[in-house]
Amino acid sequence: MSSYETLLVEQRSAVTLVTLNRPKALNALNAQVLNELLDVMRAFDADPSQGCAVLTGSEKAFAAGADIKEMQAQGFADMYGHDFFAGWDSFTRTRKPIIAAVAGYALGGGCEVAMMCDFILAADTAKFGQPEIKLGVSPGMGGSQRLTRAVGKAKAMEMCLTGRMMDAAEAERAGLVSRIVPAAELVEEAVQTAATIAAMPPLAVKANKEMVNVAFETTLAQGVQFERRLFHALFGTEDQKEGMTAFVEKRPGNWTGR
Ligand code: CAA
Repeated sequence: MSSYETLLVEQRSAVTLVTLNRPKALNALNAQVLNELLDVMRAFDADPSQGCAVLTGSEKAFAAGADIKEMQAQGFADMYGHDFFAGWDSFTRTRKPIIAAVAGYALGGGCEVAMMCDFILAADTAKFGQPEIKLGVSPGMGGSQRLTRAVGKAKAMEMCLTGRMMDAAEAERAGLVSRIVPAAELVEEAVQTAATIAAMPPLAVKANKEMVNVAFETTLAQGVQFERRLFHALFGTEDQKEGMTAFVEKRPGNWTGR
């Protein structure tokens, strides 16, 4: 596996564990982090031995935002001309699931990248916020859209307008995170959850991820139709035959990924 300057990457059986590693900048997300992360996710998606990824940061910060020092001197022509942040769209096109394991600060771009993952497991120390307004700007990596869909307009609007942070308990109540675990157990719990997913039939994993994500992009009727078509398609897989036969024969399934 390639080595990276801003990331630590480790394969734990079928789970790819990616740790953001710019401790001096509280894991601020710059162009290098993006490029390295895209490289890792391309390799992860292409590697049949890998079934699920975990993206995490440090105890203090998942990520404290986009790199303010990188953006400080930029003008409109630079940002618009280069469609700054558009590269993150590629991260969301990863087809296998990615779990965000968040401890400490997930602010601005940090909160936005956590929300680009398929779900968020939070340590009891997690803090989420969109404080960009205090810098004279706004979310730019999807925060105003994904946060609103995740927690509703009232909380999203308040957080974007005031920059206040949500702690883990509030984030769980609001539906931003799937559950809270003690900080000391966060990474192990996320890796175990990822291992559970990685042990599922791989085509069904991709289909389930794709259909839940379609719920954010479409009407109910179209989403239900999309789900049903993919559900039908899974009956063309060997793993559907194996899964249902294994159930009837009261034994674990043995997946081929076909
Ligand atoms: N970009 C660049 N550097 C950052 C950073 C960021 N987003 N966040 C923290 N750092 C750096 C600090 O500049 C500091 O570096 P130096 O030691 O060289 O001064 C180092 O990380 C440690 O930070 P602090 O000394 O500030 O640590 P703290 O514990 O006192 O405070 C914090 C922690 C509350 C998270 C504070 O660092 C903070 O407010 N950070 C900025 C949060 C923010 O505004 N995020 C949004 C960024 S804009 C954005 O993300 C746009 C978008 O939509 C994508």
